[in-house]
Amino acid sequence: MTVDLTNVFQQIDGDYENLKELLREAVAIQSVSGDPSKRDETIHMIHWMKEKLEQIGTTCELADLGTQELEGKTVKLPPVLLGTLGTDKAKKTLLVYGHLDVQPAAKSDGWDTEPFELVEKDGKLFGRGSSDDKGPVLCWLHAIRAAQKNNIELPVNIKFCFEGMEESGSVGLPELLEREKDRFLAGVDFVCISDSYWLGTKKPCLTYGLRGICSFFVEVTGIKQDLHSGVFGGVIHEPLQDLMWVMAQLTTVDNRIRIPGLYDQVAPLSAAEEKTYDDIEFDVAEFRESVGASKLPTEDKKTLLLRRWREPSLAFHGIEGAFYGPGEKTVIPSKVIGKFSIRIVPDMDPETVNRLTVEYLNKVWAERGSPNTFKPRPGHSAKPWVVDVNDSNFLAGARAMKRVHGLEPDRIREGCSIPITLTFQELTGKSVLLLPLGAADDMAHSQNEKNNKWNYVEGVKTLLAYIMELGSA
Ligand code: BES
Ligand code: MN
Ligand code: MN
Repeated sequence: MTVDLTNVFQQIDGDYENLKELLREAVAIQSVSGDPSKRDETIHMIHWMKEKLEQIGTTCELADLGTQELEGKTVKLPPVLLGTLGTDKAKKTLLVYGHLDVQPAAKSDGWDTEPFELVEKDGKLFGRGSSDDKGPVLCWLHAIRAAQKNNIELPVNIKFCFEGMEESGSVGLPELLEREKDRFLAGVDFVCISDSYWLGTKKPCLTYGLRGICSFFVEVTGIKQDLHSGVFGGVIHEPLQDLMWVMAQLTTVDNRIRIPGLYDQVAPLSAAEEKTYDDIEFDVAEFRESVGASKLPTEDKKTLLLRRWREPSLAFHGIEGAFYGPGEKTVIPSKVIGKFSIRIVPDMDPETVNRLTVEYLNKVWAERGSPNTFKPRPGHSAKPWVVDVNDSNFLAGARAMKRVHGLEPDRIREGCSIPITLTFQELTGKSVLLLPLGAADDMAHSQNEKNNKWNYVEGVKTLLAYIMELGSA
């Protein structure tokens, strides 16, 4: 039996000021997990959410994860918030995951407004975390509140797992979940994560694949301290010159990866899979404009999506130790660390990618013939994830999207990574659905991150509809 949600949806529309207020409070808590000086705020964010979950009748516990070494200091890890709402044996159980930590942000990075103050402008809610991932997490809370206010019985029990370290590699979470396999995770039937985005700005989507990631550090040293480039330039082997040359050997001019054997592991594309790309709605020009680029390496829709979702890519992130301040500094840096990462896809595995990459770096280094010291090493890694788009969990998600938007969602993949997705799938053995609520141009991790007012409000309805649809899944 389908419960009519028309009135509830209207109430959700009318409750916008409360929805916004909640997001304002959440955005104001500077839960930047990567910044040790903000660790107390990150911990506070978890406690704040615990209180909110308790207000809707959730039984909560805080799982302590101990400490971590960060920038030479021992800092406390934020606890993981585990909540249980409903323990009816006759009902199935949905597990919801989300993260309450955010990427760093400062107005001086080029924001138009203060990043930790929620500002509404032209139907957009600007603020760090408004889309990644505080907004979607609050949509769950609101959806359940709305059901309770209307005396609508939820057809499933709900468990929550909210963490505060996602943006910093989910430190400690996989181990915690493994310990909780036969307790907290026992009896879970479906998993849902709302931490990805629509492919465009108008049409809803369901996400069935994520790329994995392998990060690398390449260190070059050889002189005891930074040197004057006028005095020493031309008569020493510069570590930064070596590093830039080595890094430049990693890709071709159109950004293909030059590591031998790397593409061999990529799963071949079947004709049937290729066909699924035909119907996906994706506006290449809108995408190009959204990043402010004048031209893209490919402007063919299918080729572009294949490159984003099911081909590896290599990105350079920076060089530690190199001069980057404003103005000129005629210096030769003494120790530099190059940073890059490779997004990986099925059937690539992190161990092989790490091995091939380090072997190639060493081979290139040998060709360079420099007397400097060269240390390449892999950092964090995560496996790719891809699943069936037609299991009962995905179909419930699709029906929910249809109820709210009147449209059948596109089935899409993502170029990004949410490493814990695979952990949930492996430990519960159940289907994990990624249910995106935000628009493609929300600018997660970037300046002026926002969530559209419309997406935020419709997101509440979507999650409520999804929970209700699980009753017949
Ligand atoms: N929410 C993102 C992942 C994401 C972004 C999924 C866009 C789909 C579309 C998540 O918070 C994130 O930033 N993940 C990191 C993981 C990394 C630190 C291991 C990423 O992909 O860079
Ligand atoms: Mn996220
Ligand atoms: Mn993120």
